[in-house]
Amino acid sequence: MAALRIIVTGGNGQLGMEFRDLSENSEYDFAFLSSSDLDISNRTSVIDYFKKNEAHIILNCAAYTKVDLAESEKMKAYDVNSNGVKNLLDAMPEDCIMLHYSTDYVYQAKSGIAVRETEPTSPSNVYAASKLAGDQHVIKSKKKALVIRTSWVYSTHGNNFVKTMLRLADRLPELKVVNDQIGSPTYAKDLALVSLDMIDKLLSSKDNSLYNTVYHYSNMGQISWFDFAKEIFAQSNKSMPLTGISTVEYPTPASRPSWSVLDCDLIQDTFEVAIFDWKASLKSCLDKLIYQDL
Ligand SMILES: NC(=O)c1ccc[n+]([C@@H]2O[C@H](COP(=O)([O-])OP(=O)(O)OC[C@H]3O[C@@H](n4cnc5c(N)ncnc54)[C@H](OP(=O)(O)O)[C@@H]3O)[C@@H](O)[C@H]2O)c1
Repeated sequence: MAALRIIVTGGNGQLGMEFRDLSENSEYDFAFLSSSDLDISNRTSVIDYFKKNEAHIILNCAAYTKVDLAESEKMKAYDVNSNGVKNLLDAMPEDCIMLHYSTDYVYQAKSGIAVRETEPTSPSNVYAASKLAGDQHVIKSKKKALVIRTSWVYSTHGNNFVKTMLRLADRLPELKVVNDQIGSPTYAKDLALVSLDMIDKLLSSKDNSLYNTVYHYSNMGQISWFDFAKEIFAQSNKSMPLTGISTVEYPTPASRPSWSVLDCDLIQDTFEVAIFDWKASLKSCLDKLIYQDL
């Protein structure tokens, strides 16, 4: 029997690249699409693509992720993060499964308790609002699609906090890092592995209630960006004097939630997937980064 075909949109992003790495030892037949291969905001192109190409699973890693720039590029953010998702849902074959990725930024929850999927959404910036609009398309859809909301994503690929810290360590004598935003980092490789586990389970289940639902996934741990930076430097044996500062002292065009810790019980209980410890995942990413130019 021919292998099932997985389409990865946003195939050159952090998460898309992790799927690329995992695809080398996979039983599935992967097709990786960059934004120039398939612009998901272009409805005609998306419909045309799925008319011409087989797809059993879609991993929608495509997103407009420039959180601060989105404040002045609202249309662009909505085009990709909302209309793009709707285009995929409308164009995908009836029996195709879609995993769509979204963000912790859709919440502004009270600190102290990990945020469950039932928490009311309250996006504090344009990026988050556009992602929420995309999630709502998935939730309302009758297609086999689900949402995985994640937080503080990093990888050996692309641009992210871990790589920025390592780069700055070689350039600056000291660093100031925000210490009043609390969340959980997510190694994109872990999220990719968990997604593939979920696909195996979805393919062997006839339970349609698994779809049109939101799940949370992050690594385990509750830390500030300051704590994250401290651990990055400790694990990579770099001495960097760090000062913790408040969000007010580091203003950005888009405001961010101060509490972003996601409760991952639902995904763990439903799909029996592993939730890895944040320090262990950081170590495996740093071990890979040692052999790579930043
Ligand atoms: N990064 C985080 O900290 C974080 C946190 C929470 C949730 N998330 C979510 O996790 C998912 C994966 O994020 P990531 O960090 O892997 O993002 P990323 O590295 O920024 O990758 C996003 C990819 O989407 C592609 N893209 C942009 N516009 C597109 C379009 N119109 N059509 C097709 N592709 C398009 C980009 O391709 P080009 O570069 O070729 O334009 C890029 O490769 C996203 O849904 C994001 O919202 C991320």
